[in-house]
Amino acid sequence: MCLNPRHWSQIGAWIVVLSGLMVAGPACSSWKSGSQKKSLVPLPEDPHSYSNPNQVRVRHVDLDLDVRFESRVLRGTATLALDRSEGQSPSGLDSVVLDTRDITIDQAEASADGGRFSPARFSLGTADAILGAPLTIPLEPSTRFVRVHYATTPKASAVQWVEPVQTAGKEHPFLFTQSQAIHARSWIPLQDSPGVRVTYTANIRVPSGLWAVMSAAGNPTSNVAPGNQDRTEFRFRMDHAVPPYLLALAVGDLRFQSMGKRTGVYAEPSMVQAAAWEFADTEKMIETSESIYGPYRWGRYDLLVLPPSFPFGGMENPMLTFATPTVIAGDRSLVSLVAHELAHSWSGNLVSNATWSDFWLNEGFTTYVERRIVEAVYGKERADMLAVLGWQELNELLNRLPPADQVLHINLNGRDPDEGMNELPYEKGALFLKQLEESAGRSAFDAFLRSYFDHFAFQSITTADFVEYVREYLPQAGAVPVQTWVYEPGMPPSAPTPHSEAFDRVEQGVRLWIEGFPLSQLKTETWSTQEWQHFLRSLPADLNLDQMHELDRAFHFTEEKNSEIAFQWLLMSIRRRYRPAYPKVEDFLVRIGRRKFVRPLFEELAKTPEGQRMALSIFEKARAGYHPITAASVEAVLK
Ligand code: BES
Ligand code: ZN
Repeated sequence: MCLNPRHWSQIGAWIVVLSGLMVAGPACSSWKSGSQKKSLVPLPEDPHSYSNPNQVRVRHVDLDLDVRFESRVLRGTATLALDRSEGQSPSGLDSVVLDTRDITIDQAEASADGGRFSPARFSLGTADAILGAPLTIPLEPSTRFVRVHYATTPKASAVQWVEPVQTAGKEHPFLFTQSQAIHARSWIPLQDSPGVRVTYTANIRVPSGLWAVMSAAGNPTSNVAPGNQDRTEFRFRMDHAVPPYLLALAVGDLRFQSMGKRTGVYAEPSMVQAAAWEFADTEKMIETSESIYGPYRWGRYDLLVLPPSFPFGGMENPMLTFATPTVIAGDRSLVSLVAHELAHSWSGNLVSNATWSDFWLNEGFTTYVERRIVEAVYGKERADMLAVLGWQELNELLNRLPPADQVLHINLNGRDPDEGMNELPYEKGALFLKQLEESAGRSAFDAFLRSYFDHFAFQSITTADFVEYVREYLPQAGAVPVQTWVYEPGMPPSAPTPHSEAFDRVEQGVRLWIEGFPLSQLKTETWSTQEWQHFLRSLPADLNLDQMHELDRAFHFTEEKNSEIAFQWLLMSIRRRYRPAYPKVEDFLVRIGRRKFVRPLFEELAKTPEGQRMALSIFEKARAGYHPITAASVEAVLK
């Protein structure tokens, strides 16, 4: 049966590209088989999408896009293959509703067989600030394909057009997309709900000399023959059905370095070697995860190092994790990020949240799995430290968030899911799973999780689906207050509390210093990044300026290169009004666009009139370099 996503591999043979012109060959039978009506497995309501997947569902996206740096526009077509439900309107006339945001639609076409297209009507609804504008295309009874001719606008929230000065090489521009949570609609018109899984293919044309890479098969690994004249075309294929938030594209002056039989790293030429060294344990991490949770099902696992304006630490784009360069610390101390994004290959990409209210199913599971991978590859001591740092962040959130936002299954109606997202689903979710593990026993829980990944593989599920699965297949965990964990604010009294012996020693050091011992007597030579993070977080809140100077003289924090340690120090420096560090606050905020660092620093600055002035002046300089997602967060802080 051609409905099987695996058969999309035939598309490669079906499309012939001649100097940018797409010519359709004889239609593959897999396109035709879409013409049978079938009952669509119903999807839950998604308040963050205008689309109508329970009537008409997009099942494949074929992109044909030109990347134009001069005008900061992606222009081309998206051809969508549709499944239609049996229960459509009696007349046989219904519509497909797609999500768009800040996209210009030039033209729509429709087809019964995917071979011959004819013009179709379309209408673009009024734009909502968060959701964008619904694009409605009425369908003839026989229509099984629609093609939208469109262009992105420079405002598109998923796309960052990076100027050459902001890259490592300073010579070539760079482009990357970030589709999670609801930004895919700003570069592709589609049904932008994580319940609507699609396979995809893409032809991407870029200025010759640059490489295009995607969250798919087909990424280049060695020098690419330039296309005719000044453009090179790349072709990609993702044969597994994935939620739209996993569609991703990057274009830049990239090189590839292999790290193992199925792993490698893409980065700008000057960074690729350091990146390959930093991430050298990736294959070991995959083998570890496979031994607990079953086979890695995506073929290759590569990483892409982005310019420092990338708004996140990492993004689990399938087959190609996108990563911030700020994790390249030179000592592999921040590679739990790789463990995290890799873990999403099971929790998130294989089994996905069906709506953004179920986000904890992605991130809580992934945080739990990340720490299991870290424990196996780097030892329990490192995993414990990460758990404690996470626990501290969780407690800080529990002190500050309204009760309604302390539940795992969160209500995000009317809200931008980006703004509703914080560490709570990560850390509370991971502790919930930790309690299930402790209660059932590790080997029973491992077997349970493995069967969960198998059972729901390539599906998007809700919190209720998981709760039901636990009740049925993990009776050993009967004592765990599942409902409380998922639907109640705060923490159940029986929640596990992570503990790190290494951190006990760090705290002992802090006490000694406060009692009058010199800093030079602390045994810090072997401290890891995490121990330094904990040290800075454990210092008393009322340090005076002399003490700040003393710390800086002893440990040179203001000159610190490690991004996590530098962040912690700069945050403290703003709190304590430690002026010698202010120029570094500005450097850091102008250079780095990672939201996890940028937002708290601006929040801290905004607390005083002096800081507010400094914040506005820094934002003015930094803004052009920020991704729209980071810029929006800072604006929300400074408004
Ligand atoms: N999927 C997330 C990033 C994300 C979340 C993007 C929500 C958009 C909306 C990714 O897996 C992640 O959690 N990244 C973390 C790093 C991780 C080590 C905790 C980040 O970016 O800080
Ligand atoms: Zn994650």
